[in-house]
Amino acid sequence: MTRIAIVEGDGIGHEVIPVAQKVLFLLHPDYDFFPVEVGYGRWEQTGCPCKDNDISALKTADAVLFGAITTPPMKDYQSVVLRIRKALDLFANLRPIRGDGFDIMIVRENTEGLYSGIEEIEQDRATTLRVVTRRGTERIARAALRCVHQRKGKLTIGHKANVLKSDVFFRDICIAEAKKAGIVYNDKFIDALSLDILQHPEAYDVIVTTNIFGDILSDVSSYLVGGLGLVPSANIGDRYALFEPVHGSAPDIAGKNIANPVAALRSAAMLLEYLGDNEGAGRIESAITKVLASGIRTRDIGGSAGTMEFGEAITGILGKQG
Ligand code: NAD
Ligand code: IPM
Ligand code: MN
Repeated sequence: MTRIAIVEGDGIGHEVIPVAQKVLFLLHPDYDFFPVEVGYGRWEQTGCPCKDNDISALKTADAVLFGAITTPPMKDYQSVVLRIRKALDLFANLRPIRGDGFDIMIVRENTEGLYSGIEEIEQDRATTLRVVTRRGTERIARAALRCVHQRKGKLTIGHKANVLKSDVFFRDICIAEAKKAGIVYNDKFIDALSLDILQHPEAYDVIVTTNIFGDILSDVSSYLVGGLGLVPSANIGDRYALFEPVHGSAPDIAGKNIANPVAALRSAAMLLEYLGDNEGAGRIESAITKVLASGIRTRDIGGSAGTMEFGEAITGILGKQG
């Protein structure tokens, strides 16, 4: 039986994930869903945000549907999201941005770079080591090239090689891999790319970049489609996969039933695609299109519908199709 771990996490994770889970259950009553409770809320209750056996539980799943976890910027608090990505070796973070006239896939390296975790705060200075390895770069470049191949498109390498030697290394390995695969590529400095993607989104197909640049670029690019409430992501490794909205726990709107569940629904669609159910994924996407076109929208994109109302409109359509 297909096992799906459900991690609501914190904040609006408790609101958007139940909507997405309901949709998955509607399409796949045959799946076995089981909850895993980790996050800041868990830390407040127990002093521990994520135990070793939570990681083991996630590893028993065929796929994980994940909400968002609050990561307070504190000296000694380790981000649970990063711990899970590293423990499951989810090295490829795929963040699609699709709109009228453009279809972009940001492929973000997800395990190293500035997120190496090799850092320290001393009395008068703090350091974080930006680690870019050959193995890490080759595998993310190859993941990006597989996307290019499937989409019959081209690759753009986003970097800051004019300043960072670690990005000279990253760029050169990506170029070598693209040449080996016979794929059309170009490269661009990440700062210029962050503006150009907003001005000329149609010029981009697959963008490969390092960890923090991909993090920032994906929030920036969400502007093209109406904001963070709409953008999903897949975190893929060789053995495990986790699907989550690009947005966080949004404490400013949590508990008010106003969060947009589309990013979570699209993450569920990516999960189905990963498990081979392209039809189910397509049904979720077309239900979203229909509901948005009918004028049912949450506040962030100009409507007045609540999270649950939007979810009911989606399950209404999918339920009718039987
Ligand atoms: P955020 O993405 O939570 O929110 C940014 C802004 O976007 C807020 O104004 C929020 O209200 C809005 N927003 C986000 N999702 C929305 C949705 N579905 N519908 C409507 N509006 C939405 O980023 P933040 O405020 O910088 O971070 C909050 C917390 O989330 C932090 O602790 C951060 O570390 C964490 N975070 C976690 C993840 C994750 O778990 N993967 C991702 C990003 C941020
Ligand atoms: C994201 C988030 C995470 C990241 C944080 C919460 C660790 O911003 O998934 O985009 O930086 O990767
Ligand atoms: Mn982010």
